[in-house]
Amino acid sequence: MSNPISVLGISGSVRKGSYNTALLRAAQGLAPAGMTIAVTDISKLPFYDGDLESSSGIPLVAEDLRARIRAADAVLIATPEYNGSFSGALKNAIDWASRPPHQAFAAKPVGIMGASGGALGTVRSQGHLRDVLTMLDARMVNAPQVFVGAAQNKIEDGVLKDEPSLGFIKTLLENLAAWVEKLRA
Ligand SMILES: Cc1cc2nc3c(=O)[nH]c(=O)nc-3n(C[C@H](O)[C@H](O)[C@H](O)COP(=O)(O)O)c2cc1C
Repeated sequence: MSNPISVLGISGSVRKGSYNTALLRAAQGLAPAGMTIAVTDISKLPFYDGDLESSSGIPLVAEDLRARIRAADAVLIATPEYNGSFSGALKNAIDWASRPPHQAFAAKPVGIMGASGGALGTVRSQGHLRDVLTMLDARMVNAPQVFVGAAQNKIEDGVLKDEPSLGFIKTLLENLAAWVEKLRA
């Protein structure tokens, strides 16, 4: 059995029928031996507010997210694409995670994938997300890039059915596991 690897899954979409949350469910079923993927919920985070932070500190729900990111061996983000970028909900979660002390993405292995209704399947969104995570010194897996375009034709009742997409996710998870091991060494 391989060394255990704990992965925290974050969906950038908070809607119940989210295609991106469906990608994370698919990933849970495709994880290589030793890897477990827990999916967290970012829908209860308040908007980042510096006044709130300075008056009463980082809210518990944000501290919980930060602690879960720090404790995980890796983070797996499934990002939607809104108007050519990633969602406000995801940016908000990243902003809370980035606050000192111990910004949560520092040196954190991260895998990225995404599903959208458009043909390009989050190409633009993932580019922006990589820029932001680079700011935070996250260590992204570069390949494969998993773009699930026309997701409405590939996900039925919350289940990803598209074999090529499933294959890309499987390879991403294998590469993420190898990346975690490499950074551990
Ligand atoms: C405000 C908004 C902007 C969108 N912009 C894009 C876009 O730029 N590219 C794209 O492929 N899909 C776009 N879409 C469609 C989303 O890909 C689609 O709603 C998708 O289901 C969102 O991901 P989810 O299923 O995980 O919620 C947009 C949707 C919304 C609500």
